[in-house]
Amino acid sequence: MFMRDEANLHIPVMIPDLPEAPMLMPWLERIDAAHWYTNFGPLVREFETSLAQNWVSEPSPPEVVSLSTGTAALELGLAALALPAGAKVLLPAFTFPATASAALRHRLCPVFADVVADTWQLTPRIARDAARYHHLGMVIPVASFGCPVDVADWDEFVTETGIPVLIDAAAGFGNQEIGMQAPVAFSFHATKPFGIGEGGALITRDSALAARVRRLSNFGFEHSVVHAAGTNAKLSEYAAAVGLAQWGRWPVQQARRRALWHTYAAALAALPGVSLQRGFKQGELPAVLVMRLRMPAQVIDSRLKQRGIQTRRWYCPPLHHHPAFAHCPRCGPDGDVLLPVTEDLAKYTLGLPWFAAMGREQCLAVVDALAASLDCNT
Ligand SMILES: Cc1ncc(COP(=O)(O)O)c(C=O)c1O
Repeated sequence: MFMRDEANLHIPVMIPDLPEAPMLMPWLERIDAAHWYTNFGPLVREFETSLAQNWVSEPSPPEVVSLSTGTAALELGLAALALPAGAKVLLPAFTFPATASAALRHRLCPVFADVVADTWQLTPRIARDAARYHHLGMVIPVASFGCPVDVADWDEFVTETGIPVLIDAAAGFGNQEIGMQAPVAFSFHATKPFGIGEGGALITRDSALAARVRRLSNFGFEHSVVHAAGTNAKLSEYAAAVGLAQWGRWPVQQARRRALWHTYAAALAALPGVSLQRGFKQGELPAVLVMRLRMPAQVIDSRLKQRGIQTRRWYCPPLHHHPAFAHCPRCGPDGDVLLPVTEDLAKYTLGLPWFAAMGREQCLAVVDALAASLDCNT
């Protein structure tokens, strides 16, 4: 059992939550029996059908294209849209580097936008404003830390402006809806809520787009001929085996995390000077726990580490501060190059431990250590 022994406390920021070997065995035995290891095998197809059930209550299940990583889902989603080289892609500066790298690797030009202060997201309103200053080829809003983006608003944006949208919901599986217009990229990296090791998916209601992405994931082959050059980004049967085992335990794991989150979030909300990202609806869970502080995060970061609490500065530095992206244009409020909300989040946000195997005692120990680090209750 976990003990609240302050002197020997060590709480990691993250422990990935993947199915263990015995749960994988039935699936691995099926691979042995079929001798089918990759190239759209039976387990991959079953995994895709299972994932589509996540949206059964919506008009009809969407098309799921499983892929080798979330980055591949972004890259092939972009490739399938076939934008001209140099086209401008609006995306938030407050995101993981893969969002911008995917655009750059397809010879597109990322334009960094600011985010709003409550949900920490690039919204349609920001994109409409940016479109007054830049000719936008497309927009990639990000479901930051798994906080879902509003698909109805983005559908309206696509209809009104004609600018295509690809949603990067890498960490948003379990929260993110699939709209009518904008495909959604998910990551199944080990550290994500639905982790399988490495994996991803492009999920869309556009079957022609799904077919293009699937072809591009297999070198571009269409009846043995390549019309549009692709890559190899297929999910193997082994990765699908982990995915199917993970799918089997997902409802129980989610229920467990939800119960724990209730306690954790309430205890954090009671601390003065701490606020959490807004925009999660009832029952939705953050993928990682990031709080906004009133004090510089760096100060609390080192105090928490001294108390045995591991922390992480997710999305810090923001993209425009990385040398690889420093040349990319920025478009803040009123077309300015300043991104005030992003700079604020970079200075004041800090990630705390949050993972499925955490116990109530560990949550409370983190909150106690944070309270002491903020100079309350010391
Ligand atoms: C916002 C965002 N986009 C894309 C990715 C890339 O996903 P993957 O690691 O599966 O390639 C990540 C990974 O953390 C992410 O956080």
